Amino acid sequence: MSPVFALRINNIVREALSNSTRHAQASHRWIRLSLAENAIHLIIGDNGDGFSTVRKRRAGHGLRNMAARAKQISAIFTLKSAPGEGTRVMVDIPLKKEHIYE
Ligand SMILES: Nc1ncnc2c1ncn2[C@@H]1O[C@H](COP(=O)(O)OP(=O)(O)O)[C@@H](O)[C@H]1O
Ligand SMILES: [Mg+2]
Repeated sequence: MSPVFALRINNIVREALSNSTRHAQASHRWIRLSLAENAIHLIIGDNGDGFSTVRKRRAGHGLRNMAARAKQISAIFTLKSAPGEGTRVMVDIPLKKEHIYE
């Protein structure tokens, strides 16, 4: 895995954890990284306040940047949150045989 690829994943994890620390009032947060046959699944989750993903937000660019970084590594970015239900940031990175990740 190239340094650029790792850096983008690292940036996503940092922003998700930073959001969770600043906005969620969570008592529990976790990172789960799992390897499937043809994908890496990454979840950054918390059991905090959650928020509406439908309502327009005027806040920063963190969520948008995470989605953009995921796209740069051909990953699928999914944000799951709702008021009172915590938040999960999910990144699914498809693995292709013989493909060099950079
Ligand atoms: N883990 C989370 N728990 C609760 N609210 C969140 C979480 N992550 C994001 N949010 C909400 O989404 C908004 C937008 O996040 P973001 O785009 O990263 O901007 P910023 O962090 O600068 O406010 C936050 O202001 C917050 O209201
Ligand atoms: Mg943020």
